[in-house]
Amino acid sequence: MSEAWTPSTWQHHPAGQQPEWPDTDELLRALKTIATYPPLVFAGEARSLQSSLAQVAAGNAFLLQAGDCAESFEEFSADNIREKLRVILQMAVVLTYSMGVPVVKIGRIAGQFAKPRSSPTERQGDDELPSFRGHIVNGALFEAGARRPDPERLVQAYHQSASTLNLVRAFTKGGFADLTRVHAWNQEFVASSPEGRRYEQLAAEIERALNFMRACGIDTEGHPALSAVDIYTSHEALILGYEESLTRQDSLTNRWYDCSAHMLWIGERTRDLGGAHVEFLRGVGNPIGCKVGPTMEAAELLSLCDALNPARIPGRLTLITRMGADHVEARLRPLLRAVTDAGHPVVWACDPMHGNTYTSPNGHKTRSFDAILGEVEGFVRAHGAEGTWPGGIHIELTGDDVTECVGGGDEISDDDLDNRYETMCDPRLNGRQSLDLAFRTAELIRSGGD
Ligand code: TRP
Ligand code: MN
Repeated sequence: MSEAWTPSTWQHHPAGQQPEWPDTDELLRALKTIATYPPLVFAGEARSLQSSLAQVAAGNAFLLQAGDCAESFEEFSADNIREKLRVILQMAVVLTYSMGVPVVKIGRIAGQFAKPRSSPTERQGDDELPSFRGHIVNGALFEAGARRPDPERLVQAYHQSASTLNLVRAFTKGGFADLTRVHAWNQEFVASSPEGRRYEQLAAEIERALNFMRACGIDTEGHPALSAVDIYTSHEALILGYEESLTRQDSLTNRWYDCSAHMLWIGERTRDLGGAHVEFLRGVGNPIGCKVGPTMEAAELLSLCDALNPARIPGRLTLITRMGADHVEARLRPLLRAVTDAGHPVVWACDPMHGNTYTSPNGHKTRSFDAILGEVEGFVRAHGAEGTWPGGIHIELTGDDVTECVGGGDEISDDDLDNRYETMCDPRLNGRQSLDLAFRTAELIRSGGD
């Protein structure tokens, strides 16, 4: 890897998963436009997130990273964003209360638009078209016009990210996240379920605790620690031209930050050591993540850690493991040992979604709640055995009452998948399943996975 890094050195490395933009001038014009736009986040915020993640790496906090598989240009509304935040707040409060440690909250939100694909083209009958790569690139409809990569979408992705982030900031700082409103985060379709009732109980306990503090003379109203939360943004840094155009030099430290989100991660498909994605992210000051799948060997992982975090800064690097429920323990343990022995202070997060995807008999891409829980369980057990901290979970969810993952409290069956299967990409946990997972994750970590 070359020594000198600039926001464009990735261009000299092989870049996987980039769209074939039909018109280069059009692309360059869009990127140039974005480069003149204000940053979406500030370097100081990225640094705050990194110090919170350092607490996770040290075993003093827990990471909840959650949101859509892919955000949509079509389902973009205040309701949609609020419902997603509601579930994230619910999960966060359950984890915080049950585990008794701070929960660092990061959304897959306000920029999670790009999808890596197993094939650059899709065939239906005699027709072959470019694959759908997420709304930042093209449309999902199998039709030549929709599938043509359109650079105007990069600009639109910026604007949608900006308004989403604006609403996230308003909801998290403007009263919606106030702990006195803990009951209000329970949605109707969740409240009537066993998980919902369990949540009501926990909310009532929190309410009692707040009343107690008030009775003691503590002013709970004017306390930002109780009335506001930080929800940071993140997405997979896939379309590197877009990321480069939002990479800015911080005036305070002179370091480069990718100001498209607080945290960026590298996907399982683009994490090769000599590749453009590793080259790009190694140079930005943001906290970064890297997905780690079941084929990862210890030596390769150590090389990645050295490339992405040579100074071994705690909180800089989060390893997001996605092994599949059946393999997680066996595959993870040697990696935990190797990284710990090498002295890399990483955050270990469990993505129990992507290693457990399969196609149901009626043709839906789905995941079973039991397998998702099983992977979290194996993750916690592996960490227990190696003496490392199971630092967090990385989840695909939605606030809506969808039927995309089977099982869970309401026992969604293969046939139910036809009812409300709305995802543009991977199957997401619905509000009930997400809440259930939060309760069970907290229990698992408290008991050390036994
Ligand atoms: N500010 C604290 C935190 O972020 C407590 C808090 C306030 C909170 N509102 C919340 C925690 C909503 C979870 C969910 O942890
Ligand atoms: Mn996904």
